[in-house]
Amino acid sequence: MSVKETVALGQLNYMHNYAQFPISFSSGEGCYLIDEDGNRYLDCVAGIAVNDLGYGNDEVAKVLKDQIDTGLLHCSNLYYNANSVKAAVMLNKLAGSSEVFFCNSGTEANEAALKMARKYGSAKGKYKIISMEHSFHGRTYGSITVTGQEKYHKGFAPMLPGVLYATFNDLESVENLVDDETCAIIVEPLQGEGGIVPAKQEFLSGLRALCDEKDIVLIFDEVQCGLGRTGRPFCFQHYGVKPDILTLAKAIGCGVPMGATLAFERVKGTFAPGDHAATFGGNLLATAASQVILSKLADRDFLEDIALRSSYLEKKLDEIVAAHPDKCIERRGMGFMQGIDLKVAPRDVVSACMEKGLLVCSAGYTVLRFVPPLVISREEIDRACSIVEESLSSL
Ligand SMILES: Cc1ncc(COP(=O)(O)O)c(C=O)c1O
Repeated sequence: MSVKETVALGQLNYMHNYAQFPISFSSGEGCYLIDEDGNRYLDCVAGIAVNDLGYGNDEVAKVLKDQIDTGLLHCSNLYYNANSVKAAVMLNKLAGSSEVFFCNSGTEANEAALKMARKYGSAKGKYKIISMEHSFHGRTYGSITVTGQEKYHKGFAPMLPGVLYATFNDLESVENLVDDETCAIIVEPLQGEGGIVPAKQEFLSGLRALCDEKDIVLIFDEVQCGLGRTGRPFCFQHYGVKPDILTLAKAIGCGVPMGATLAFERVKGTFAPGDHAATFGGNLLATAASQVILSKLADRDFLEDIALRSSYLEKKLDEIVAAHPDKCIERRGMGFMQGIDLKVAPRDVVSACMEKGLLVCSAGYTVLRFVPPLVISREEIDRACSIVEESLSSL
C-alpha cells in the first residue's frame, strides 16, 4: 500500500485516540525508517525510547528467528521457560534486585509495583501512595491515577483512592504528605512525558532516607529512562540511590512488547502465588530479544560509547539553544534522553523536521524531545541537529 492508502484506511478504521501524523513506515535500517513510498527518515524518536539498537539488528533478528524455529512462541506461566529465567537472572545482576515479574508494557509494570507496595503496607494498614506532579506512569487506572497530570484524568473520574501528589524535586512537599498510612512513593528519576526533567541528587537521596525511616516502598519508574538510555544500565545508578521496586518496559524487548517489575531486598517475597499474573508475561520471543540488550548493558565499552556520543549530542543541542534565544529556553536531560524547552509550539518544529526527513517528538506542552536509538553515530547526530537548526530558523 502507499502512505496515502494506509493513512486513509487507518483514519476510517482506527479509534481516534492518537493525534497521528499522516505517515506510515514499512521498514527500518540502522537509525533510519523508510515509509511506504520509499522516503527515508532519520529517527530520533526510536518508537519513543524503544528501539535502542536501531532497526535491522542482526543479533535481535537471529534470536527471534531461532526462537520461532523451536515452534514455541508462548508458554504459560504455569511452567518455567529458560528464556525468561535467563532474562530475570540478567536483570537481577544488572540492577542488584532480588526478584522479577514479567509483563508486556510500562503501565502493567507500574500496576504490579503499586499492587506490591499496597500488599507490603497492608499488614500495617498503609495504603496511600505519593506520586509527583508532571509525572507519567501509563494509562491503566492505577498508573493513570499516579500520573500527576490533570489532562490525563479528565473525563475518566473517579481515580484510584489514596493517591496524593507532591512537587517533583521538592522533598519538603513530599514530607508534608507522608503520614502513618503512606505505603509508597513513586517517581521517575528522569521525568519523560512531563518535559524531560532530571531529579536532583538531594531529592532522590532524601526520598530514600525518608522511605527507610518510615518503612515506605520507594518505586522508581524507569520505563523510559532505564536500560542504557542515560549511559548506565539504569538511571538510578547515576545517583547511587536504589529503589525498592524498579519498573521497566519500552526498550527491554528490543521492539517486542515487554515490561518488568523488579523487587529489591525490602519487598522480596511480597507477592505470593495468585497475587498477580500476566498471561503473556515472560513470553519466549520477548525474553529472547531482551537478552540481547541486557547483555550489551553488561558491556562497559557499549555504555562508555553511549556516554561519549550522547555528550556530543548535548553539546550540539546547547549550540542550537544558544543560537536561537528567541525560540529556545534551555536544554535538559541525561544521555540520549534530551529535550529543548521551547518558546514556540513543539508540534510546529516536529512537522518542519519531518518535512526535512527527521523524526523528533514532543514531551509535555513545550519540549522538543530527542530519544534516538542508542547506536546513533556522530554523523547522524550532526545531520539531526542541522535539520533542527534549519527548522527552527524557518519558523
Ligand atoms: C515513565 C513512563 N512510565 C510508564 C509509561 C507507560 O508505558 P506503556 O505505554 O508501555 O504502558 C511510559 C510511557 O511513555 C513512561 O514514559
